[in-house]
Parts: sequence; C-alpha cells; structure tokens
Amino acid sequence: MSTESKATLEKLVALCKRRGFVYQSAEIYGGLNGVYDFGYLGTLVKQNLRAVWLTAMNSCKGDMLQLEGSLLGSRAVWEASGHIQNFHDPMVDCLQCKHRYRADDIDLNKPCPHCGNKNWTEIREFNMMFKTYVGATAEQGSEAYLRPETAQAIFINFKNVISTNRVKIPFGIAQIGKAFRNEITPKQFLFRMREFEQMEMEWFCKGETAEKDFEYWCEQRHNFYAILGLTMSRIRMRPHAKDELAHYSKACTDVEYQFPFGWKELEGIAYRGDFDLSQHTKFSGKDLAVFDEETKTSYMPHVVECSVGADRLFLTLLFDSYDEDVVEGETRIVLRFNPAVAPIKAAFLPLTKKQSDATEKIYTAIKQTGLVVDFDESGSIGKRYRRQDEIGTPLCFTYDFESETDNAVTVRNRDTTKQERISIDKVESYLQDFFTKK
Ligand code: GAP
Repeated sequence: MSTESKATLEKLVALCKRRGFVYQSAEIYGGLNGVYDFGYLGTLVKQNLRAVWLTAMNSCKGDMLQLEGSLLGSRAVWEASGHIQNFHDPMVDCLQCKHRYRADDIDLNKPCPHCGNKNWTEIREFNMMFKTYVGATAEQGSEAYLRPETAQAIFINFKNVISTNRVKIPFGIAQIGKAFRNEITPKQFLFRMREFEQMEMEWFCKGETAEKDFEYWCEQRHNFYAILGLTMSRIRMRPHAKDELAHYSKACTDVEYQFPFGWKELEGIAYRGDFDLSQHTKFSGKDLAVFDEETKTSYMPHVVECSVGADRLFLTLLFDSYDEDVVEGETRIVLRFNPAVAPIKAAFLPLTKKQSDATEKIYTAIKQTGLVVDFDESGSIGKRYRRQDEIGTPLCFTYDFESETDNAVTVRNRDTTKQERISIDKVESYLQDFFTKK
C-alpha cells in the first residue's frame, strides 16, 4: 500500500453516513455537536476492535483481569484524582463574532479565523467534566460527574479486585467503556468527541520494575498496531517532554498516527507512579497499599497505563484502510480492513435472481456458524462487488449458472479481485482457513 492516504475527512464522513457506519447524533433535530451514533456496520467494527484489543491484553505477560465501572462518579472521586483541580483546557473567545477556541489550537497573534478581526478575550481555564446531581436536590453533597476517563473506576476498586481474585503483583486490569469530556471544540469527526469510548488498561507493578514494565508496554502497544494491520510508516512513538506531562504522570509516550491533518495522538502510554492509589488512600482514608509476603512490608503499587480511544482507533482504521483503485476501467472505493475487524466477513451473491434460493441456502448455513455474513441479490454483480468493497468485505461468493451442475461457487478476494472456483461443500472450511490465517 502507498504511504500516501487517499482518504480525506470529508470522504470518510460521507462514506460513514452513506453506508451506515456512523450517524450524527440527533441529526433530525439538527445534531448534537461532538456526539455520534454508530449504525450496523460501525457497531460491528467497534465490536471487532474491542475483541482484538482484549485478545492483545489477555496475551500479555502476567494476569489480566477486567472491570466494568460506573459512568457516574461522586465528587470525592474526582477531587482525589485531581480532575476537579486540573482537568482544564485553556479557552479564548473572539469578542467580535463570539466564536470560541481552545487557546492552544490557534495563534492569538493572528486574527480570528472565523471573522478576521483580532479582538481576543483573556485566556480562561475551562473544566471539561460534565457535572450533574444525583437525587432530587441539587446540593453540594449530591454532586456527581460523568467520568472523563475510565481509569479511576479501576483505582477505586483496586482493593475489591485484589481481595476477590487470586492475583499477585504485577497484573493488569483492562476496561472498555464510555468517557465524557465537554471539549471546547469537538472536531475532526470521531477524533475529538464529547462522548467517546476508551479502552484502558492499568498495570500494577512494583516501583522497582516500573521502568522496565513501561518499556514492555510501549513495545506491546506498538506491536498491536502492526497486528491490526495499520501502515507502520504512519505510526510513531513520541515520548513526552517533561512540561507536557499530565498532572498524574511521571513519563508518557504517545502512539501517534499520521492523519491527513498531521501526526496526532492515537494512544497514550503513561507511567503514573503511585499517584492514583496514594491519592485515593489519602482522600478515602482506606489504605490501598499491598503486603509483600517476601519482605513482610507494605508498599503502594505503581501503575503503567495504556489508553486508547475506541472511536479514534476506528477513525484511524478508516483512514488507513481507505483506498481507491481502478477495476475493469471503473474507479472503486475499497476499505482494505484487516479481515479480523471487517464488519461483514463474506457476502453471498446469486448471479441472477434465478439463483437466489440456492445461494440463500449456503448463506443461511454459514450464518449459523456465527460468522457475520451478508446476502445481496439486488443490482448487477459488478455493483454488488463495489458495494461490498466499499464496506471492506474480504470475500464474495457468487453462485452462477454452472453452480447447479458443478456444485461450486466463485470466490472473489476484495484486495486482489482475483477469483477462484471452490466446491460448495468446502465454503465453510475455506472461510475458517481464511480467517484463522489472517
Ligand atoms: N486515562 C488517561 C487518559 O484518559 P488521555 O490522553 O486524555 O488519557 C486517552 O486519553 C485516549 O483517549 C487518547 O489517546 C484518545 O485516543 C482518546 N481520547 C481522548 N479524548 C478524546 C476525545 N475527546 N474524543 C475521542 N477520543 C479521545
């Protein structure tokens, strides 16, 4: 594949809408900025991404547990985590047209990109958490926040987890779930959203091994993107400078992807030290230290965190797999998804409607194996191939006039467009081989 992406944000947004991957939330009411709904195909891709991520987590050294924490957290949690004091973005308004910007997104020495005047407010800090109240009365004691990251649920449950599972340090806790941030300027489609999904893993280890564990996770996460099939020349690891570090972080390396709008963070790998467990010990009064049987002393575990946005990864995957090429004199759009994350694994196509019943029989049998497959009988065969290419279906099986006599179908490969003839009773094993090899 060429290193130049043929995708633009506009093309991807249009494709996602056209084919039902992603819809603007509440579109019929004018939309809600920075919030999206996932349609059938988008839901399938996200399910596959979660599965690939979990497999990678489970195949790491040591134990990996999971957690599904609540989305609402009491004020106390976010005070201890430092989010109430520190989770700010700098904000600036144009006094002329009232347009609002993240101050670090624009050059304040230049005029407002929206109206062309240069009349800025002072830079103010804006807390990005969504606040609400639990119960009938809006008083300080009932304040709660939608979580801006999933990680805190892992830290506040640390004692519960170690007392209910047979685990020893080092081990990890992985979690996939929603996070909410009132971003000043949500933009670039799924890149910066106000409601999004994170896939986070907190690795608990001893302070002495933390540096090595941090390196281990950087390597693991780099490998993950190779396994996912991303173009590795568009991936780089960027260690943070000291003045870039988040309030909790001792060291951080971003996995960055080269989007058409520049190199941007895809995942953050952070060495959080013992900041989180120490803070929750201090604020809750519950000791979260662990006892070391060997040295007969208590210590506070250190944490290495890997955190990637599922939606941002989805967008990255779209950018990376989008391609346009020419097949039989016609330009086609093709999503060259790794088969493991392709939403539809195979399509079954009767050459004409006369072959529909026989084709549907094969389709139904394969569907019953649990594979997500499609049956499509409408339009010319060329059109149907294009439709499947555009959503990244790796294989198309066509039942034609000869199938009735030779008991075989033609299988077409999305990437090569090459076709081969296989016996109908071999379709299931062909699919099995294809998807286990990939
Ligand atoms: N627990 C650490 C943490 O939340 P972060 O760098 O703020 O760190 C981690 O977020 C990842 O979550 C990012 O690398 C990105 O993939 C995703 N992410 C963060 N903010 C996002 C947003 N507004 N929209 C979509 N994804 C976002």
